[in-house]
Amino acid sequence: MDAYIIDCLNLIVRWLHVITGVAWIGASFYFVWLDNNLEKPPEWKQKKGIGGDLWAIHGGGFYEVAKYKLAPEKMPETLHWFKWEAYSTWITGMLLLSIMFYLGADTYLIDRSKADIGQGTAILIGLSSLIGSFLLYEILCRTKLKEYGLAFGLICLAYITAMAYGLSQVFSDRGAYMHVGALIGTVMAGNVFNGIMPAQRALVDAVTKGTAPNASHGLNAKLRSTHNNYATLPLLFIMISNHYPMTYGHQYGWAILAAICAITAYARHYFNLKHQGISKPSILVISGALFIALLIAIAPPRPAPVAKDANQVSFSQVNTIIADRCTACHSDHTTLFPTAQGGVKLDTPDLIKKWAPRIQARAINSHDMPLGNMTKMTDEERATVGLWIQQGAKLD
Ligand code: HEC
Repeated sequence: MDAYIIDCLNLIVRWLHVITGVAWIGASFYFVWLDNNLEKPPEWKQKKGIGGDLWAIHGGGFYEVAKYKLAPEKMPETLHWFKWEAYSTWITGMLLLSIMFYLGADTYLIDRSKADIGQGTAILIGLSSLIGSFLLYEILCRTKLKEYGLAFGLICLAYITAMAYGLSQVFSDRGAYMHVGALIGTVMAGNVFNGIMPAQRALVDAVTKGTAPNASHGLNAKLRSTHNNYATLPLLFIMISNHYPMTYGHQYGWAILAAICAITAYARHYFNLKHQGISKPSILVISGALFIALLIAIAPPRPAPVAKDANQVSFSQVNTIIADRCTACHSDHTTLFPTAQGGVKLDTPDLIKKWAPRIQARAINSHDMPLGNMTKMTDEERATVGLWIQQGAKLD
């Protein structure tokens, strides 16, 4: 397909994905916030079966929100459900994954230095990782394990770590990260579809018929929404991680992914405890400190000081390397892409100098550029460019 058309599809679908994702997570954060802020209602509300209420002001108006202990006596005429936010986020996410990583598998998903696989095989591995994870999770939710929250969480974390490691052996670094994100997102959307919605339908049904709702439905929904809650922050990190090659492009990118999942899920624990009336701000402090410790731990090694008598790397050497390895995607005359990628052009000495810090970040500290190493840059070339930058990026 024409590269421009693919770019347009990418733009439209990504935009929709962000919009629907904001709506999903926004609604889910809002309801968690509501639950955390409900207060004991006045007598007359309690008599109606209201368990908690709160007042808020927003957009120039007062809102009175009430939550029933179980359900209202009579079903309201209009009842708002929140499910399409989740479904449409998942659908647009799958479309985006397909446009970028499956249609563009050769560029974004396959890394021939890791595994020399074809487009079909890569897509098959990718989709199986999503379907397999979904099925495995659904099975886990039907075992006794679901009653042991911490053990369940640790098993999920171990699984995510294993998947991050396994996928990073066959896919490009970004492809591996994005598939871990997609498998978490698939499980989360599945939770809405398989757990939360059926429970809510059963509840509405029971209220309409005037029968007692089946408690097991409610428990199942609670379990799954708790899981989704813990998964939200890790998922959001993965979705923005492509801006941070220091994470996915690191030698131990898979372990960094696992660590960030653990730390951010722990941060979410603060809010869940608060829901139960327990306030432990130390959790937020500890997770913040752990996150900073992680960033320090993954910092690129300081380059050895350059010997005084070392030869100055000449700019012409660097210029040749950049022309061979980068300008196919970063210039006015790109050959591998229709336009200069990431807004970066490396056509002239001044531009190369201007971009030196980012060249350092993307091609020396991490090996995330050239993309998929499509232009086959060697380690020696990286070392030469790195040394040139260290020596002050002089244009001689
Ligand atoms: C096959 C195409 C391709 C090649 C070859 C390539 N890049 Fe990129 N580059 C991209 C794409 C796509 C983006 C935008 C997406 C992104 O930032 O990951 C990008 C973005 C960048 C950015 C901008 C983002 C930032 O971090 O500020 C820099 C810098 C960069 N590349 C440096 C290089 C260098 C240096 C080389 C050569 C050693 C190189 N690239 C080779 C495709 C390529």
